[in-house]
Amino acid sequence: MNQLNKEEVRVFYPDQQTVSQAAIQGMQAYDALCAEAEADYEGFWAKLARELLSWHKPFKTVLDESDAPFYQWFPDGELNVSYNCLDRHLEKRGNKTAILFEADDGSSTAVSYRDLYQSVCKFANGLKSLGLKTGDRVVIYMPMGVEVIVAMQACARLGLIHSVVFGGFSSKSLVERIEDAQPRIIITSDGQFRGGKQMPIKSAVDEALQEEQSRCVEKVIVFKRTGEAISWDDSRDIRWDDLVANQPDSCEPAWVSAEHPLFLLYTSGSTGKPKGVQHASAGYLLHALNTMRWTFDIKDSDVFWCTADVGWITGHSYVAYGPLAAGATQVVFEGIPTYPDASRFWKVIEKHKVSIFYTAPTAIRTLIKLGGDLPAQHDLSSLRLLGSVGEPINPEAWKWFYHEVGGGRCPIMDTFWQTETGGHVITPLPGVTPLVPGSCTLPFPGLDVAVVDESGNEVERGIGGFLVIRKPWPSMIRNIWNDPERYKQSYFPEDLGGKLYLAGDGAIRDPETGYFTIMGRIDDVLNVSGHRMGTMEIESALVANPLVAEAAVVGKPHDIKGESIVAYVVLKGERPTGDAAKNLVESLRAWVGKEIGPIAKPDEIRFGDNLPKTRSGKIMRRLLRALARGDDITADISTLENPAILQQLKS
Ligand code: WTA
Repeated sequence: MNQLNKEEVRVFYPDQQTVSQAAIQGMQAYDALCAEAEADYEGFWAKLARELLSWHKPFKTVLDESDAPFYQWFPDGELNVSYNCLDRHLEKRGNKTAILFEADDGSSTAVSYRDLYQSVCKFANGLKSLGLKTGDRVVIYMPMGVEVIVAMQACARLGLIHSVVFGGFSSKSLVERIEDAQPRIIITSDGQFRGGKQMPIKSAVDEALQEEQSRCVEKVIVFKRTGEAISWDDSRDIRWDDLVANQPDSCEPAWVSAEHPLFLLYTSGSTGKPKGVQHASAGYLLHALNTMRWTFDIKDSDVFWCTADVGWITGHSYVAYGPLAAGATQVVFEGIPTYPDASRFWKVIEKHKVSIFYTAPTAIRTLIKLGGDLPAQHDLSSLRLLGSVGEPINPEAWKWFYHEVGGGRCPIMDTFWQTETGGHVITPLPGVTPLVPGSCTLPFPGLDVAVVDESGNEVERGIGGFLVIRKPWPSMIRNIWNDPERYKQSYFPEDLGGKLYLAGDGAIRDPETGYFTIMGRIDDVLNVSGHRMGTMEIESALVANPLVAEAAVVGKPHDIKGESIVAYVVLKGERPTGDAAKNLVESLRAWVGKEIGPIAKPDEIRFGDNLPKTRSGKIMRRLLRALARGDDITADISTLENPAILQQLKS
């Protein structure tokens, strides 16, 4: 457990120059906002929604709880998300840079709000010409770039529901998502550049579309990124450039209900296939925008950079939607942190004068290892605020980030949140919250966060428990696509009374400050390099291999990645040893890479004649986790059917 060290509490307010203009000033203002939400919960959110969003038709109802836990926010209001991200900035910010695109090869392009608006309108008109209509699904499988944002915004403009699939997922994963979301269109590119290499991407779409489950897909739109030769199906494939060639550069937005689904984003749970997390238009955008203001203190003069790929929720909220809704200038980065070398991030910050930098602990730890002294060789004086997301940031990495990157001037916003929460849940606010390395500190105003026991009762501070959110909030998940039952069971379990949103993380609060520390997942979800992965998915992938009889997957702490993946495998044939075992490990890793994607490849595979099971046949994962860590088994193993197996699985 991560103990809070009180000596490390640093107060940034009121002397901190970098955040002197912060949106919320001081702890009193924070307390006042929390009190406001407490006193009139709906009024608190309604006021923000009225102030921050442009409505086509104003809402009268704030929160409809009649079908809880299927909550509806501002349900009788109408708006358009893309209008809120683009059109409303044109008058004041038409010439302002919306996107500074930093390509893998180090070249960059600036795209103004007007340019972006026109590209989105043209592309939306192109989509319309294909007969797409509000509510249709569109899968986007593209590398990072301006066009992926254009594609997402164009969908939003027409009320099409996009589902972005991370480019690192395999064609099989793509098929799984296509089968569930039933898109009519897929948007992809010919190839992609990553770390100086040219790599295919459309080929995975071609492969996916050969499957029976993908028959719903009518057309594939292909953006030309690399110009490489690719296979082409004239009856199905359309060039992006051809689609937009003669389209007008304005396009009336589709005015949709506040509750109209904006997107689906698939994420891993502890059981079954990835779930299609469904977000609604207004509530989601409200929080994406308001967290840009309160957490990141966004100003017109800022250059914001969130390094996440749009394939993940962070890239949705803090690349594709939040910064644009705020009218901010942001860097969009195609490359990787280690190409051409480990100073790439620092070069980009220096070059584009980034003032707010939001990244993941894994990236920070990698860069410490590969070149801890490199930030000092760059002019990072433009920075005023730092952010961290996706996994717990260990105090050592926090301190390095704070001193070496932030020059001891920039507060770090350690933002805890999830795909399902749409935006920040627990985070410090600049100019407000005294920081403690390793703690995400306090709830975002309005979010009613608590730590509870197995029956849903709040535990005392200093005692660990389940992290829950007690009241519905605007940017919350609305449903799991095609699976409302699973939505209820996963997030509003009856054991806890059926009303609390269960985040799936363990947490503890500091007795004195009330600060939250996240203790990691309480379910079988791993967090590898900030990527969420279900152990069950990896197990299913392994078992799908003809040689494998049984598999169990657990996580093990890892210095850089946070967690690494350890798989225990029982083969149908003999347990291999020596070179045969080594070769099989490699081929099973490659297999998982093809089944799910390279990010899911086990770091370690151990073969056994069996797995440790109770007499009723349940795999004892607790023991497997201990074995993976190399711990001595001190737990009671008397219920174990086959204790001898533990010795075999030790390494
Ligand atoms: C973990 C990413 C500790 C947590 C935005 C959560 C964190 C899961 C933090 C969601 C943080 C995210 N400190 N843990 N600041 N941020 N997590 O859906 O386990 O990809 O449940 O969303 O990441 O991952 P997801």
